[in-house]
Amino acid sequence: LDNGLMRTPPMGWLAWERFRCNTDCDNDPENCISERLFMDMADRLAEDGWKELGYQYVNIDDCWAAKERDSEGRLVADPIRFPSGIKALAEYVHAKGLKLGIYGDLGTYTCGGYPGTTLDQIELDAHTFASWGVDMLKLDGCYSNSSTKALGYPLMSKALNATGRPIAFSCSWPAYEGGLPPVVNYTLLGEICNLWRNYADIDDSWESVRGIVNWYSRHQDVLQPVAGPGKWNDPDMLIIGNFGLSYEQSKSQMALWAILAAPLFMSNDLRAITLKEASILQNKLLIRISQDPLGVQGQMLLKGKNNIEVWMRQLSSSTMALAFFSQRTDMPYHYTTSLGQLNITAPQLFSMQDVYSGWVLHQLEIDTEFTVTINPSGVVMLFVYPEMQIVQDWDK
Ligand code: GLA
Repeated sequence: LDNGLMRTPPMGWLAWERFRCNTDCDNDPENCISERLFMDMADRLAEDGWKELGYQYVNIDDCWAAKERDSEGRLVADPIRFPSGIKALAEYVHAKGLKLGIYGDLGTYTCGGYPGTTLDQIELDAHTFASWGVDMLKLDGCYSNSSTKALGYPLMSKALNATGRPIAFSCSWPAYEGGLPPVVNYTLLGEICNLWRNYADIDDSWESVRGIVNWYSRHQDVLQPVAGPGKWNDPDMLIIGNFGLSYEQSKSQMALWAILAAPLFMSNDLRAITLKEASILQNKLLIRISQDPLGVQGQMLLKGKNNIEVWMRQLSSSTMALAFFSQRTDMPYHYTTSLGQLNITAPQLFSMQDVYSGWVLHQLEIDTEFTVTINPSGVVMLFVYPEMQIVQDWDK
C-alpha cells in the first residue's frame, strides 16, 4: 500500500501469541489484556534498547473491546481493563516515541467473540481509530464470508486513508482464502494493505514455526515477487523468549524471518526475557538484513537430501544474506560449499560475516570452498559483502 508507511518490514510487539484472550485481571493482573500490559511493554521497548533498534509498534490484538458498542454505535474499550481508554493509551505510547496498533475484525464478531466491524460500520470504526490516534490496524476476518471480505478490505483501506491520519493496514484476508492465487489476488493486496497474513496462526512450538517456514518455501514462487516496500507477506509473530523454542530454534526463526523480509512483531514478555533471547532479537546485523532498503524478499535456493536448506536474500549495495538451515534431528552437520556451487553470482572478491558468532572470512572468490557447521534445527547465517580492493598502480 503506497501510503508512505512500512517501506521496510515493520518491527514491534504484538500481544496475541503470548497473552491471547486472557481477560482475568482479578487473578492475573500482570498478564491480562489491559492498559497496564501495553504500558508495561511500551516501557520495556523504550527503556531496554528495543526502540533504538527499530522495534516501534506496540500492538493490541483481540479482546480489548467492551462486549457492546456505545449508544452512538462506536467501539469502546473494556472499561474495567482499559479504564483510561485507548486514546490515553495512544498518548502514553506516543510520549515514549512509539506507535500504537489496534485490532479489529471484518465480520459480526472478532475471532474471540468481541464486536466486529460489519460493512456499514467500516467508516465509523476507521474514524474512531483515527480519533484515538491509532497508528496501525490489524483487520481479522472471523465471522464473515468471502464476498464480505472482498468488499470490506478495500473499503477499510479507503476509509483509513480518508481519515487523513497515517494508519498502517494489516490484512488477514488471504489467510482466510487459502493464501494462494487464483483465489487470493496479491496485486490487489499490495495496493490496499501494508502487510497481510497468508497462512496459519503461529503457536508456541517449533512444529508450528517449521510448518509455517515449509509453507512459505513451498509457495515461494508465488509469494516472493509480491512483497516489497510498503507491502509484506506476514508469516506471523516472533515467539522467541517464550516456552516452545530452543536456543537454536530461536536463532532459526529470527534468521528465516529476516530472509523472508517478514514483519518482526515479537509476541513475548519483555519484562521477563533473558539476555540470551534478547540478544537474538537485538542482533544488529540481522536487523540490518531485515531492514534492507531494497525490500526484496529472499527465498530457499535448495533443499538437499541431507535436510539442509540454503536460503538467500539479495540486499542493497551488492550484498546478500545466506542462511543454512538444518531440518535434521541428529547432530551438528558440516556443510561444505562455495557460492559457485550454489549458483550464486558473487562479487569478484568478497567477505562473509557469521551473523551470530561475528566471525569473518576474508578474501573469498566464487569458487572458494567454505564449511559451515549447522546444529539440529539450527541455522548458520552469513552476511556476504564485496571485499574492499586496494588497487595500487605503482607505475603512475
Ligand atoms: C485469529 C488471528 C490471530 C489472532 C486471533 C485473535 O486467529 O489469526 O492472529 O488475532 O484471531 O482472536
